[in-house]
Amino acid sequence: MLGTVSEPVVERTVAPVPPRAGAVGFAGPTELAAALESTGYLPDEGLATAAYLALVMHRPLFLEGEAGVGKTALAQALADVTGRPLHRLQCYEGLEASQALYDWDFGRQLLHLRAAEAAHVGQDPAALEASLYDRRFLLARPLLRALEDSPSVLLVDEVDRADDEFEAFLLEVLSDFTISIPELGTIRAQTPPLVVLTSNRTREVHDALKRRCLYHWLQHPDFDREVAILRRRLPEVSERLAREVAGATARLRTLDLLKPPGIAEAMDWASALHALGARELHPDLAARTLGAVLKYREDTDRVHALTREALFGA
Ligand SMILES: Nc1ncnc2c1ncn2[C@@H]1O[C@H](COP(=O)(O)OP(=O)(O)OP(=O)(O)O)[C@@H](O)[C@H]1O
Ligand SMILES: [Mg+2]
Repeated sequence: MLGTVSEPVVERTVAPVPPRAGAVGFAGPTELAAALESTGYLPDEGLATAAYLALVMHRPLFLEGEAGVGKTALAQALADVTGRPLHRLQCYEGLEASQALYDWDFGRQLLHLRAAEAAHVGQDPAALEASLYDRRFLLARPLLRALEDSPSVLLVDEVDRADDEFEAFLLEVLSDFTISIPELGTIRAQTPPLVVLTSNRTREVHDALKRRCLYHWLQHPDFDREVAILRRRLPEVSERLAREVAGATARLRTLDLLKPPGIAEAMDWASALHALGARELHPDLAARTLGAVLKYREDTDRVHALTREALFGA
């Protein structure tokens, strides 16, 4: 629960942290893409451009796309290439502001009160009460941490799972990157965090929030990029197996399945096949390992019925 004692608000700006190694700008999207690639994240041109603009324009980046296409991983990769700490807020139904912003540590406040009473100090009730609302008793949650730890990367993951009320609250925070704590003052990051919001589009996020962001729809990668990702992430997998898995995964995506496989599933599939000693995608082995790539019974039943055509074309 947020504190309720109200006192005059004191503006407290977090001191700017000197840029860490690598936090200086990139000449353009191509340079950012190269830096991301060096961390193992392979963006396409559109995504690299959107991420670059988010960085230089200080605008949140709103990423929508199917599951497993690399939305969350981009935030981590951006933190890596900018040398900034990553703060992640995982959204869920019922998420409240106190879980995103801050909370008072009641247990420690109580101990402090008892200790003060035992030591007979803080007899002035107002002073004693004020001492309870010291920064050290504040539990910073991801949004506050992202401002205090400036410059940082803030990942607001799966925002479509949060309620409308939370979205409205988020809109407020993202509009001025300021958090008011009645008992402490206003916290404002000197450098706004690089914010990445992700959504699986289980519901539409309101236009007002989207308007504040740069928007990018993340597609499944094309064949060459998927092979490159598989090779990069799983160097132990043979090139032939990587290519065949990428090809079969792309075909599965055309089948109108309940859950088309993302890159994560393609990686799992390649790993599973490799663990079984495969160096190529043999149809029988593919059928036996479908559980690595498809996660609905209806989907596996369907693909089992047409394994050869589904995976290798007619
Ligand atoms: N462009 C890419 N380059 C390298 N690896 C990638 C790329 N895209 C995705 N991956 C890898 O694929 C996996 C899934 O990515 P991630 O978890 O970011 O997907 P997501 O879009 O957030 O999925 P979900 O909606 O289920 O949360 C991760 O292991 C990630 O590293
Ligand atoms: Mg994710």
